[in-house]
Amino acid sequence: MEHLIDIESISKEDILNIINLAKEFKQGKKNSEVAKKTLALMFYENSTRTRCSFEIAGQKLGMNIINFDAAHSSLSKGESLKDTIENLYFLGVNAVVIRHSLSGIINNVMRQVKYPIKFVNGGDGTHAHPSQALLDYYTMLEKIGTVENKKIVIVGDVSHSRVAKSNIALLSKMGANIHLCAPTYLQFENAEAFNITCHNDVKQAVDGANVVMVLRVQNERHEKEGYPESSEYKRLYEIDTQLLKIYAANDVILMHPGPANRNIEVSSELLDNRVGKTILEQAQNGVYVRMAILNTLLKGSGV
Ligand code: CP
Repeated sequence: MEHLIDIESISKEDILNIINLAKEFKQGKKNSEVAKKTLALMFYENSTRTRCSFEIAGQKLGMNIINFDAAHSSLSKGESLKDTIENLYFLGVNAVVIRHSLSGIINNVMRQVKYPIKFVNGGDGTHAHPSQALLDYYTMLEKIGTVENKKIVIVGDVSHSRVAKSNIALLSKMGANIHLCAPTYLQFENAEAFNITCHNDVKQAVDGANVVMVLRVQNERHEKEGYPESSEYKRLYEIDTQLLKIYAANDVILMHPGPANRNIEVSSELLDNRVGKTILEQAQNGVYVRMAILNTLLKGSGV
């Protein structure tokens, strides 16, 4: 594994190696192999969990961390992303985590950069968020042991969600029974290729579910017109305690990549009860999974 751009580009073996390494880091059984290497966090879009957990992961590994300030960088003077990254490489940066609103931009710039700096996609547009899918998978394994033949339901704005796309790619590699639930205009266009069942009705979707992963409605990525009010979305798709109790499996796991909009896609009461705690555990696992990603990419790389 040279870089982490999307789940499609890495093997099942790569995924399992990262999961096992993350487990060792969490249990305190593994020491860093990348201390003193330098990581730059280049976030052109807002973030809480991804940015902070990559920073904490790097700190726990003994790395030097640069919080690249995109708004005050020389990009505003016309410098390209390629030139910026090549300059960072010559300053001693070994790896970059990039978040950007443009789908595919990280892959693009990676192909242009001539020097052996490592690239990690921290979320690009509606394309991919591979470290999120890996930490989601890690959390599912911790909670239910395996995803094989388990009913995993992703509810919400699937069409604009890079988290959903990376989860679909990963969970289908691992043999999960994937169901998506969204209004037709927010559905995933490529469902047939992945053998996924799509629903409009949330009760049908959640029926017997082992995992319910809720997504935020990404208003900032919608075209201007044609989307319903939040109140209409809430009426039809909000996940609450009663819905899970009646329809889902008794030991259902509730997940959300964050940030959650309380009382729109998920009820505030559900977020604050025992079932909702898994969402915080996802964020916590993100630190160990990102340690595993950085250690895997940078150990013995000579950069
Ligand atoms: N899940 C996720 O990507 O959260 P942030 O936008 O806060 O990083």
